Amino acid sequence: MGIDYNQKIPNNVDLAGDRRLQRALEKWLPAYLDWWQELGPARSSGMDVYLRTAVSVEPGGWAHYDFVRMQDYRWGIFLAPPVPERRIGFGMHKGEPVWNELPGEYRAELRRLIVTQGDTEPASVEQQRFLGATCPSLYDLRNLFQVNVEEGRHLWAMVYLLQAYFGRDGREEADGLLARHAGDPDRPRILEAFNERTENWLSFFMFTFFQDRDGKFQLAALAESGFDPLSRTCRFMLTEEAHHMFVGESGIMRIVQRTAELMGEHNTDDVSSFGGIPLALVQKFINLHYSICLDLFGSEKSTNAANYYSMGLKGRFEESKIDDDHVLTDAVYEIPEIRDGRVIVAEAPALTSINERLRVSYRQDSQRGIDRFNKVLRAHDIGFELRLPDAVFHRNVGGCADIHGTPTGALIDAETWQRRRDEWLPTQADFAFLRALMQPVTEPGKMAGWIAPPKRGIHGKAVDFDYVQFH
Ligand SMILES: [Fe+2]
Ligand SMILES: [Fe+2]
Repeated sequence: MGIDYNQKIPNNVDLAGDRRLQRALEKWLPAYLDWWQELGPARSSGMDVYLRTAVSVEPGGWAHYDFVRMQDYRWGIFLAPPVPERRIGFGMHKGEPVWNELPGEYRAELRRLIVTQGDTEPASVEQQRFLGATCPSLYDLRNLFQVNVEEGRHLWAMVYLLQAYFGRDGREEADGLLARHAGDPDRPRILEAFNERTENWLSFFMFTFFQDRDGKFQLAALAESGFDPLSRTCRFMLTEEAHHMFVGESGIMRIVQRTAELMGEHNTDDVSSFGGIPLALVQKFINLHYSICLDLFGSEKSTNAANYYSMGLKGRFEESKIDDDHVLTDAVYEIPEIRDGRVIVAEAPALTSINERLRVSYRQDSQRGIDRFNKVLRAHDIGFELRLPDAVFHRNVGGCADIHGTPTGALIDAETWQRRRDEWLPTQADFAFLRALMQPVTEPGKMAGWIAPPKRGIHGKAVDFDYVQFH
């Protein structure tokens, strides 16, 4: 199922066969391009970048790699092929055929799920827009732009659903997705984690490791949806998401690698005066991004999440691999609860604990990445271990929002938190240090001193390939 790039909006959803929808999307297109010009990657329009573009939705050869002038990049609408005879896998409609049209009784819930997901996509582009100016290499600059154009495409994916299935409301929501902006005091993005500026490359790699991984888990849960167009669009987005997490994980890995080398060379933990990023600072950014992302999963107990599940709209991670009845009427799940100033494990209905369950899956997946970083440290005989902070640390959502905790999980009072937070979270001085450290490197094959080169280049090209050409 190839994708036709001769159309104004490349797609595999037979847009030409639905004139009303085609007109609506073609009307939205210039507004999107204006947004990209204004809030997409700064000063990138004239650059030729070695990018991948989706040319098919079949697993295996879906991507085509070539130089694209940034201003000519084409965003399209791609859904994974339908699974024949697919049935709803959970909730009260379990076993019924999936819906190919919007189930009217769940219109409000689906609209909310799609808008919330859609809002994060352009937000991350806005957050990352100035990073190009301090890129550590052309290889990294290319990866940044690859992530950015695909987040733009993820916005298209959600806007397609809104325009195709939600009539006038959908058109208004599509406009709203371009009207809210990351960090805008009047019209901010919906979720707090998508309002901070991603101001340096350590933040960027953490963002693509942690925030994009949240994206993976949200998309995976939505890919289970009984509303088949949503499921299909999310399934294709997941193939792109994998690369974003690769950028994050390999980026952190290369920083850890470089820091370990500098620690050995100079026989010190504090590599900052040798142009490196100390592990203690890497740990602070892990603390920050991970704790923000835990909040993205919502409260431990949530009737919204229970409803989405029972209605068959949003499932659990790898729903079909879970060994239970997928209805969860009487099932229980263990969730953390704060009682008398202590964290205890309490039994709660599995249905209202859906958020917590997704958060646990996320934690396990994140931990596997952290383990790989620690392997690099052990290979360099370094005793320091990077860690995910405890769930009580630096939280703003759910039961833990009412308490203060250390990264190792000890509960502390507000005064102690105030006094010690700079030990655990990046400070203004830390950000200033990174600003001074991160100077742009744009010579092919050259790498900033704070990061090791990647093991290999993109799509069989050498690491010193000219991934971005300036004009
Ligand atoms: Fe995305
Ligand atoms: Fe992503």
